[in-house]
Amino acid sequence: MDWRQVINQKELQECVTCLKKNGVIVFPTETVYGIGANALEESAVNKIYQAKNRASDNPLIVHVSDKEMIKQVAKDISEQEQMLIDAFMPGPFTLIVHKKDCVPHNVSAGLDTIGIRMPENRIAHKLIQEAGIPIAAPSANISGRPSGTNMQDIIEELQDRVDILIDGGECDIGLESTVVKVVEGIPTILRPGKITAEQIQRVMGKVDISKKIFEKVKKNEKVDSPGMKYRHYAPETECVLVIGTRKEQIEKINLEIAKKKERRIAVIGFEEDKKEIQCDTYLTIGNRDELDNMMKHIFSLLRKVDQMELDLVIIEGVKQEGIGLAIMNRMIRACEYHTI
Ligand code: TXA
Ligand code: MG
Repeated sequence: MDWRQVINQKELQECVTCLKKNGVIVFPTETVYGIGANALEESAVNKIYQAKNRASDNPLIVHVSDKEMIKQVAKDISEQEQMLIDAFMPGPFTLIVHKKDCVPHNVSAGLDTIGIRMPENRIAHKLIQEAGIPIAAPSANISGRPSGTNMQDIIEELQDRVDILIDGGECDIGLESTVVKVVEGIPTILRPGKITAEQIQRVMGKVDISKKIFEKVKKNEKVDSPGMKYRHYAPETECVLVIGTRKEQIEKINLEIAKKKERRIAVIGFEEDKKEIQCDTYLTIGNRDELDNMMKHIFSLLRKVDQMELDLVIIEGVKQEGIGLAIMNRMIRACEYHTI
């Protein structure tokens, strides 16, 4: 069904009925698509884990349509948490809070907290509001793969695994929400996203970034956010991330290509570097000063490279500031910590 232009009431009601019968629906949000089900029904939530092949110790985000619905699932909201809610919801932002008992243990993967998020996307909002139930939803992808940001990418992977897919066109942002938890009075970023550390600092006066966002987590290590432990966002094709100044990046890439002449290599890089890099397959990701563009298209591009029969993909990195922090957090994982 196509809801890009208008929300058709009949189709909306079909989705609501499906959710109420504990079905599973792929729906658009402004960040990435989600695989959603009734967050208050354990059996419905189990179907999400099955659809994604997701590890049972990686908790899901609970999506709500308004502040009233937050109260239905969360308790003991502190003053600081309320400030974050007021400043950044609805939007590409997830806050970790204490959960109420009505939220089944498989949503939180046994933790006493849950992530709450209020999507701004019109279809997502309408769906949750009409259903009148909070929707548990991880990103729409088989675990480990790049998140789905448009229907073409998702349909093959998930159509046999869910009851309904709603096509909402290409996601505006393209990378998952910023995940924040208030830890000892300090808003702490567990996963960077479109809402930046700078924005949170401006509102809250302070902000911390979990050191773990760039570290490889050891097996069995205790982490703030279980999602940090897993292989993530990765294409099948081997990828390497290039860091350094622009000049250094170009030199490193040309050297890498020269070293590996017999290998089929593609470069994902910026428009302005194209002329200086000697690679037949140069996939441009916009200009260096258009990081929103990179953010929006990178997951889809990472999926495409798997269809190109390549041996190696070389990705130009960006500065770890502003939304660059989120881009680098995902790229470092897509490259399985392989940087040059
Ligand atoms: O933009 C998004 O956040 C998308 C859309 C669909 O809303 N959702 C998404 O969900 O990215 P998922 O499941 O792919 O990622 C959720 C992240 C995981 O890293 C998970 O470990 C973390 O949030 N998380 C969820 N609940 C948590 C909790 N109680 N404590 C700490 N981290 C939590
Ligand atoms: Mg995910």
